[in-house]
Amino acid sequence: MLASADPGMELGARLYLDNCNACHFVDGLGADEVFPELDGNSLVNAPGGTGLIHIILHGAELPSTEIRPMRLRMPGFGNRLSDDEVATLANFVRSGWSNTADAVDADMVAEVRSQFSETE
Ligand code: HEC
Repeated sequence: MLASADPGMELGARLYLDNCNACHFVDGLGADEVFPELDGNSLVNAPGGTGLIHIILHGAELPSTEIRPMRLRMPGFGNRLSDDEVATLANFVRSGWSNTADAVDADMVAEVRSQFSETE
């Protein structure tokens, strides 16, 4: 489904390719110990979806360890994506691969945004 850059591609797929694919890859499997797998991921599939929305908006960081001294950071996309786009993207990920989580909407994204805005 994601193998070609079809201009008629649905928005969620396009947002994923543009923003997430570089690290999590088209198969959603990520890379061992570096980029988490999104297929079957418990945070991605969690009921309500606010954890996923939060990560898309604000990013995440893995602490550095002796074995992996490089600090791995996922950037936040809150400044680049609208509430609608974040919801569309989250729904793409929540229904992609073998995931079958319930849908989120732009109102939920706005809510998560407002909850965490003071920490930025
Ligand atoms: C620059 C690389 C990079 C990009 C781009 C990126 N991520 Fe990530 N992502 C990471 C890293 C590294 C982590 C692990 C961070 C952590 O666990 O603290 C991560 C973690 C996650 C997690 C949490 C997984 C878990 O099990 O905790 C989700 C969900 C996620 N990313 C989704 C996305 C989505 C959706 C996009 C596109 C909007 C995206 N990522 C773009 C690198 C990236």
